[in-house]
Amino acid sequence: PDTAIIVVAAGSGTRLDAGAPKALVGIDAHSILRHALDGVFAAAPAQVIVVAPPGYEGDAEAELDAAAGERRDLGRVVAGGATRQLSVAAGLSALWGDVTTVLVHDAARALTPPAQIDAVSAAVTADTGVIPALPVVDTLKRVDADTVVGPVDRSELAAAQTPQGFPRALLEEAYARALSSGVDYTDDAALFAASGHAVRHVDGSARAFKITTPADLERARHLLAAAPT
Ligand code: CTP
Ligand code: MG
Repeated sequence: PDTAIIVVAAGSGTRLDAGAPKALVGIDAHSILRHALDGVFAAAPAQVIVVAPPGYEGDAEAELDAAAGERRDLGRVVAGGATRQLSVAAGLSALWGDVTTVLVHDAARALTPPAQIDAVSAAVTADTGVIPALPVVDTLKRVDADTVVGPVDRSELAAAQTPQGFPRALLEEAYARALSSGVDYTDDAALFAASGHAVRHVDGSARAFKITTPADLERARHLLAAAPT
């Protein structure tokens, strides 16, 4: 395949506080990582790089074995780094073959619909990145300490999700620049845009929310109980 999906799963899950790396925490009988990989392998065939918590590569291999089925030869596990950015960089270093499009996906967005993955892949061009995004529903305020400074027009805002897709060559270049600049970006689109490239958005989905807190894990459990896939 000419597309690769880097699934970053190396975070510790401080806010979930579940006593194990977040990606290996169970939602139902299956872990967050397993659900994320089930979604990835239900999308169009792609090379899949799982970036695992250091020391848990074997667990990640087992989840990859279970999710990949006959596409197991398309999957590979590497160890992540201390920040999300370093984990993505480790994933980029593990690509092989003639991949031209790279998607970066949070394992923590475990219930992301395969159609969202395919929509992002399809929208990437040779010079443009793509993110899935949702309209912001909250009423937002600009604040300064305890003073409400003013309203924020939410029509010009969007909440970013993953996978985020990019042309491989420009993403690798942007990563090299970010690593040498010392800036730590939390999101790949921001890192890509910092190199001067355009980013577009396609529709995200409620189901692609990120499991961050115990309440988010409960929400994932309820969603799976109501509609298993
Ligand atoms: N991630 C990673 N390597 C890191 C940090 C994060 O691969 N050093 C991944 C996480 O595994 C997750 C995604 O990036 O799939 C989004 O990060 P986040 O939701 O913040 O996960 P954690 O960093 O594990 O959680 P917390 O910030 O609560 O510790
Ligand atoms: Mg984090």
